[in-house]
Amino acid sequence: MNAPPLQAAPASGLLVMGDNLDVLTGLLETYEGRCRLVLADPPYNAKNIKHYHDDFDSVQWLAALETRIPLFCRFLSEDGILAFHIDDSEQAHLQTLLDRMLGRQSRLNTVCVKMSELSGVKMRYQDRLLPRVKEYILLYGKNPGARLHPLRRAKSPQRLEAYLDYYRGFLENPEDPVVDWRVAPLREELRRRNLSDSLPSLRRFQLEHAERIVYRTNNRWFQSLAPEQRPEATFARMVSPWGESYVWWEGKQMLFLSDHLEEPLSDLWTDISTINLGREGGIAFPSGKKPESLALRILELCTRPGDLVLDPFCGSGTTAAVAHKSGRDWITIEQDPGIFQRARGRLESVVLGTDHTGTTEVLGWKGGGGFRWGSHPSGPFASFPPQ
Ligand SMILES: C[S@@+](CC[C@H](N)C(=O)[O-])C[C@H]1O[C@@H](n2cnc3c(N)ncnc32)[C@H](O)[C@@H]1O
Repeated sequence: MNAPPLQAAPASGLLVMGDNLDVLTGLLETYEGRCRLVLADPPYNAKNIKHYHDDFDSVQWLAALETRIPLFCRFLSEDGILAFHIDDSEQAHLQTLLDRMLGRQSRLNTVCVKMSELSGVKMRYQDRLLPRVKEYILLYGKNPGARLHPLRRAKSPQRLEAYLDYYRGFLENPEDPVVDWRVAPLREELRRRNLSDSLPSLRRFQLEHAERIVYRTNNRWFQSLAPEQRPEATFARMVSPWGESYVWWEGKQMLFLSDHLEEPLSDLWTDISTINLGREGGIAFPSGKKPESLALRILELCTRPGDLVLDPFCGSGTTAAVAHKSGRDWITIEQDPGIFQRARGRLESVVLGTDHTGTTEVLGWKGGGGFRWGSHPSGPFASFPPQ
């Protein structure tokens, strides 16, 4: 995945207990238009959760969101993004509602995320139905012009394997001018270095020297060149009429393996691990807790360090914890007193730097910043660390 984001000033947050409708109505005057992202993870109405209410009449469930969506949007900046986690139970209804309320042209992406492992106990083949492993992230712009930050991710070993066979050249002298370059067959280079040319050794060498491992491919512009426009040298640097720079290699284009180790992040996410999710944040939240790596990806797609993020359905506090560790300011709301207390404990350990789970390592998080919290929608709010 991408390099960890640069840390902005230590983050600050606000955790409030109450129904998000009441709390947000109270906060509107201060925070209207200031959030870059509203990340909403409501009860899915999947009717399988025991520790918070998740069994609504479908019409009432939708009506509750219909009331709240305009309020969520009022917290967004003009380029802000509204993201919803949802599963199959209500996805189609929610998406239809959002399309109607925000306009279809504001729908940026519908991301499909693998959220369960097929090996889990709950994956026993029940009622002769297929095990459900996917959920969705619905991404809408407050306005149609809102955009995501393009992310790149490392290709999986399986995806890479399909390409590696083609990369059979080793660039011997990359420091010399391009016209003087020499390319040796890869296996010859391995033998010259007294390395085994077995497949594992070859693959290791390719990845360790990816910026010198090369391949020739067709290039339409090269093919369209008249004979007198073609370089005489074996290798040449060529700049196309539209400003792209290519390396000519006897009529074809030279590709470097290092440019192809990553690929753009698509709308199908199969790489988010849910193994050991129960331990993340150091608090029990039996179902509904989201992986920190998923929250981080959404934050990186939609925000920059220093931005303000609102999560109106706090649960165990995943969004706030990851926002804090990655330098975003946050507001989060939870109506259930027991869950609220657990989330508060999680966020305190984030601030103290004693939470070593989730994205702590990848973000290099050591603790810092602080937050305010209150058990009543209109305050008063206490500070953590206490002041
Ligand atoms: C799916 S869980 C959120 C899980 C969270 N994203 C996490 O990773 O832990 C939904 C949470 O929203 C809370 N909730 C439901 N309706 C709410 C409301 N109207 N206002 C505030 N919180 C609400 C529930 O109590 C529950 O804790």
